[in-house]
Amino acid sequence: MSAATARIDTDALRHNLGQIRNRAPASKVMAVIKANAYGHGMVPVAHALTDVDSLAVARIGEAIQLRAAGVAGPIVVLEGVRNADELGLAGQHGLETVIHCPDQIMLLEQNSASGAGLWLKLDTGMNRLGFAAEEFRDAHRRLVKLPSIGRNPGLMSHFSSADVAGSATSQAQLKKFLETTAGLPGERSIANSAGILNIPASHLEWVRPGLCLYGVSPVAGKTGHDLGLRPVMRFSTWLVATRNLVAGDTVGYGCRWRAAKPTRLGIAACGYGDGYPWALPEGTPLRVNGMHARLAGRVSMDMIAIDLGADSDARIGHEVLLWGETELPVEEIAAAAQTIPYELLCRVSERVSREIAAARAPIR
Ligand SMILES: Cc1ncc(COP(=O)(O)O)c(C=O)c1O
Repeated sequence: MSAATARIDTDALRHNLGQIRNRAPASKVMAVIKANAYGHGMVPVAHALTDVDSLAVARIGEAIQLRAAGVAGPIVVLEGVRNADELGLAGQHGLETVIHCPDQIMLLEQNSASGAGLWLKLDTGMNRLGFAAEEFRDAHRRLVKLPSIGRNPGLMSHFSSADVAGSATSQAQLKKFLETTAGLPGERSIANSAGILNIPASHLEWVRPGLCLYGVSPVAGKTGHDLGLRPVMRFSTWLVATRNLVAGDTVGYGCRWRAAKPTRLGIAACGYGDGYPWALPEGTPLRVNGMHARLAGRVSMDMIAIDLGADSDARIGHEVLLWGETELPVEEIAAAAQTIPYELLCRVSERVSREIAAARAPIR
């Protein structure tokens, strides 16, 4: 019996990819697996996603890790390279890189390598990475003049507010992207998960799903299940102790939680050291041996206390589901912690064992 475990369902991953392909049938898929595949385990996720057209990571180190694990297909480095060493590594490992600032163009002009391909990024309003619309065509001219360039650079941008259905900001971003790239050769990409779900006109030649691949909704008030997705991560642990409380007994740091009546308490092996957020309030739902239960008191580093109810027959060794099934979606736990599901997934810590569920035939 191990402690906290994140079971990764690769069939669900492929199901979600199938759903994305159904929604954007004419688009190629660049699967975003940065930040350890949103906490799911980057290498096993990459190996499970053999059907995608490309993978994308944030940093070159992540891409090199994938190559070392035998991932041979296209990989895009979304933050691009920072210096000549990284540019050399991009060439050596056959990586595609995003060009988002003039320094990166200078780097390419001063070095002979350019990696396996380039994506030129336009800032359409996110104001994070990318060239302003006025600078974009000049940047493009400089890139296509490079002697080392193979095919035309891809053209990309990123939505800031696509999770808001009908957002005027997204429409303005898409318009700017289409106008600025009009007539330029090269494939275009702007849609993240929320763009795929909310803005069909944004699908273009490439979509870049992250969150929805993992079966999680980027749209507030909806779960992945509502959108036809299946959660990929099932985060669970075990009861390591139980005890009976009388009315008035307190539990945990600060004695914040007090039993209003006699009840049975379970102690489970999971805490903020595993990525179960300290910010979760008392009453956060859990499932113990398939039965509904609630968090009691503060989350500790390695343990949580659970009010099982006076009639509970839960015992040491019974399973505690923290999130990851239709009855307990990570979206609901993130809302309780006043954060977003992205953060909860990414924060599942290294000591949590990732258990990969057996892979079956790809679902298309
Ligand atoms: C440039 C870029 N594209 C695509 C994505 C995927 O976004 P999402 O997980 O919302 O689908 C991200 C994630 O942050 C990103 O930074």
